[in-house]
Amino acid sequence: MYNRPTYLDINLDALKHNYDYLKSLSNKEVFAVVKANAYGHGMIGISKFFDTLNCAYLCVSSLDEALRLRKKGVVSPILVLGYTQLSQKVLNTVSKMNISLSIISMEWFLELMSYNTSSLTINYHIEIDTGMNRLGFKDANEVSNLLKLSMENNIYLEGIYTHFHSSDKDDNSTQVQFEKFKSLLETLDYDFKWIHTSNSDAILNFEDSISNAIRPGLALYGYSSSETKLIPIMHFFSQITQKKLIHKGETVSYGATFTADEDMWIGIVPVGYADGLPLGLSNNYNVYVENISCPVIGRICMDQLMIKIPNEIASNIVTISGLISNFETMAKITDTITYEILTCLNIRIHRIFRLNKEIFIEE
Ligand SMILES: Cc1ncc(COP(=O)(O)O)c(C=O)c1O
Repeated sequence: MYNRPTYLDINLDALKHNYDYLKSLSNKEVFAVVKANAYGHGMIGISKFFDTLNCAYLCVSSLDEALRLRKKGVVSPILVLGYTQLSQKVLNTVSKMNISLSIISMEWFLELMSYNTSSLTINYHIEIDTGMNRLGFKDANEVSNLLKLSMENNIYLEGIYTHFHSSDKDDNSTQVQFEKFKSLLETLDYDFKWIHTSNSDAILNFEDSISNAIRPGLALYGYSSSETKLIPIMHFFSQITQKKLIHKGETVSYGATFTADEDMWIGIVPVGYADGLPLGLSNNYNVYVENISCPVIGRICMDQLMIKIPNEIASNIVTISGLISNFETMAKITDTITYEILTCLNIRIHRIFRLNKEIFIEE
């Protein structure tokens, strides 16, 4: 049961639209990135919906996230993109739960081989570092060595991938990274089931001739630096829980950063920075009540904020992120990226997933 009238409304029809659009644009299978609580959208609801679409893979950042999905009954194949700390117990669980792991370095692989893997069925994807300088192999000889050792030790290398660092930029860097990846693949005489490179912006801006899967995160949720056919799938609502008249000269909230320049009505709304709303939106953002723009006044509190409202207002529903003021607007105002705004949305916010306007699941 949820009591607080603050919730995220997630439109799964829009998610399906974005998924179908990216799939048909690329003509490849989709590895849906659901890490970081599905970019704040709620990873259980989103992943359960992807189960119904027979999505090729769900990508998470850690084994912990993968296990959370399995515990909640998510059945799609899951790939851990990040580092997995190894032990025999971990490997037994990974095999039992049908989770795929990334091989991030030769050190990691040699440690893997020190455990008993003969009775386990685990699929592995090799991560290649073509310029991000994060996880992954840089050296082609090391990768050939890895292939040799994996064959000798009956370790199944199901996939290989790399990650682009600037696919949102109109420079040559994605092409350079792609060429590195392609030539490395050409030196390996191995038939990978899955080859995947492209994140959202690369899917939209770059032609990848060798992969058979894409790895979108942000675009699935409806955002991109370039594309307009995507639909943002999530809106954020709350409610005015109290209205009060304040008089000219009175201040609002901690630090008294807002002073009324006239008598005015204000509304108190139960959402705050602990929900993930940046403090930088204090005195600096407009929410909507009945299509009327209402400024946030005073400093945003941990769990509440105050807005200036018209004298006469019939509805109490507050749109915190909708069609006009939204998560992208918040990112611009606070000089950050939409990824950060979305992923900081606290797990405590009630999430309602709707399909065909009916509630599909709540989280
Ligand atoms: C390895 C990897 N692949 C894919 C993605 C998805 O990126 P995007 O959200 O830009 O599509 C990420 C996101 O950080 C990632 O780390």
